[in-house]
Amino acid sequence: MDRFNKNISFEREVTRIHTGLEELDVLLGGGYPLNSVTLISGTPGSGKSIMCFHYILEGLQNGENCLYLTSDERIESVIKQANELGFDFWPAVEKGQLKFLYVDLDKRSIHKDIEDEIDNNDYSRIVLDSLTPVAEVPVWVRGVHEIAPTEHSKITKDMPLESTPATRTHIRHILNILSKKNCTAMVTSEVPEGSRSLSRDTISEFLVDGIILMDLDTTMDRRKLTIRKMRATKHSLKPHDISITSGGIQFL
Ligand SMILES: Nc1ncnc2c1ncn2[C@@H]1O[C@H](COP(=O)(O)OP(=O)(O)OP(=O)(O)O)[C@@H](O)[C@H]1O
Ligand SMILES: [Mg+2]
Repeated sequence: MDRFNKNISFEREVTRIHTGLEELDVLLGGGYPLNSVTLISGTPGSGKSIMCFHYILEGLQNGENCLYLTSDERIESVIKQANELGFDFWPAVEKGQLKFLYVDLDKRSIHKDIEDEIDNNDYSRIVLDSLTPVAEVPVWVRGVHEIAPTEHSKITKDMPLESTPATRTHIRHILNILSKKNCTAMVTSEVPEGSRSLSRDTISEFLVDGIILMDLDTTMDRRKLTIRKMRATKHSLKPHDISITSGGIQFL
C-alpha cells in the first residue's frame, strides 16, 4: 500500500497518512493529514492503545520507522498486550524499525529526551501513549523556549507552576516536537467516566489537529468511535459502531 495518499478532492493537496483502519481512512478522506497530531480520547478500556497499535502496524507494513513513547515502564507488557490482539511487534523491534521508549516522568529532561530521539532518527509515525501523565508533570516556563519539568519547590519561574499558561506551553511544546520533520503523531488521552471534557487536562483538545473519541456504552455493551475534529478534513460527526475482537478494532 502507498505510504501517502494524495487527497485532492478536499482542501487541495493534503497528504494523507493511512490510519491502519480502512474504514477510518475512508471517513477521513484518506487518513490523518501529514504532520498532524491526533488525540485519541476515551475512558479506561475504550480502545485507545489498540488504535495506536493499528497505526503503528500500518507504518511497519509500509516500511516506515515508528516510535512508540509510553509512560508505562513495563515495555514488554505493552508489546505482549499488542501481541495478544494479533499485533506482532517483536520482529520490527529486533530489526530497529520500531522503538518503544519509556518516558520517565521523574526526569527533568523529558522534552529534550523526546526531541533528541526524534531528531537523531528517521521516524515518520510517532505514538505517545499516554499524554495525560506527561501533561500533568509540573513545569516551569521561562520566556517562550525554556520549558522544563521541575519539583514543586522550584521558585525561579516566569510563569507560575500549574498555571493554565504554563501547562498550555508545556503541552504545545510536546506536540510540536511530535510533529517535527515529517512525523505524523497520535497521542492518547484518558478521560474520567462521565466527563464532558476530551482530555483530563482540558487543554490538549484545543492544541491538537484532530480528535477521535472512543466511547463505551456499558449498559448496552456497545462501543463507538467518533471523529470530533480533524484539520483540513470534511468529516461526519456521527458516532460509528465498532467492536474490539481478537484482531483489534473492527467497524460494524
Ligand atoms: N481479545 C479481545 N477480544 C475482545 N476485546 C478485547 C480483547 N482484548 C482486549 N479487549 C478489550 O480492549 C480493552 C483494552 O483496550 P485498550 O488497551 O486499547 O484500552 P485503553 O483505552 O488504552 O485503556 P487504558 O485507558 O486503560 O489505557 C479491554 O478492556 C477489552 O475490553
Ligand atoms: Mg491504553
